[in-house]
Amino acid sequence: MKITSAEFITSAVAANQYPTDGLPEIALVGRSNVGKSSLLNKMMNRKALARTSSKPGKTQTLNYFLVNKSIYLVDFPGYGYAKVAKSIKETWGKMIQTYLAKREELRFMVQLVDIRHAPSKDDVAMYAWSKEIGIPVVVVATKADKIARGRWQQHTKIIRETMNVRGGDPILVFSSETGQGRDELWQEIINR
Ligand code: GTP
Ligand code: MG
Repeated sequence: MKITSAEFITSAVAANQYPTDGLPEIALVGRSNVGKSSLLNKMMNRKALARTSSKPGKTQTLNYFLVNKSIYLVDFPGYGYAKVAKSIKETWGKMIQTYLAKREELRFMVQLVDIRHAPSKDDVAMYAWSKEIGIPVVVVATKADKIARGRWQQHTKIIRETMNVRGGDPILVFSSETGQGRDELWQEIINR
């Protein structure tokens, strides 16, 4: 997809701060440090529009990015980060759950998992919960540059089985380093 514009619009910690223009939204969720913000930058062809860090817990609010004046990619705080205080974790959890359950503009969720590892309990729970409330999910197995191409299929099979990913939900192999999977993910976004 040709990116003609990509802009940061707003950070939100509550529903009354979400945009009101009714444009479709895609939510990017996954564990802290899995590479959500990096994927976003790659998708938008921008190096550092979304802030990334080698330390987990970088993104702490819902961050809205508007692409081609037509669709929002929404960067989420990661889950599963042990060092965050319990009270903050609960607030995050609530914000994420409320958004996913109630937000009319949400078209689907992109759930990132690290291709190198079996999905965590949190990953499994996140996916199962999104199915319970009926959100379509595109699973993205990221950091693909970190393992040999010949092992991608075996690793995505483990992800599909561990998370019990439904047949209709694709699993895409992605790398923010190489751009692997970028076009396929844009196709999913455009076609849904
Ligand atoms: P939080 O905001 O803390 O939830 O993390 P995040 O999921 O947004 O992760 P972020 O994009 O900040 O990336 C975390 C680290 O992983 C950074 O050091 C990135 O450079 C690295 N990283 C992200 N994606 C990739 C990838 O595809 N390949 C490689 N090799 N490194 C990656
Ligand atoms: Mg982030």
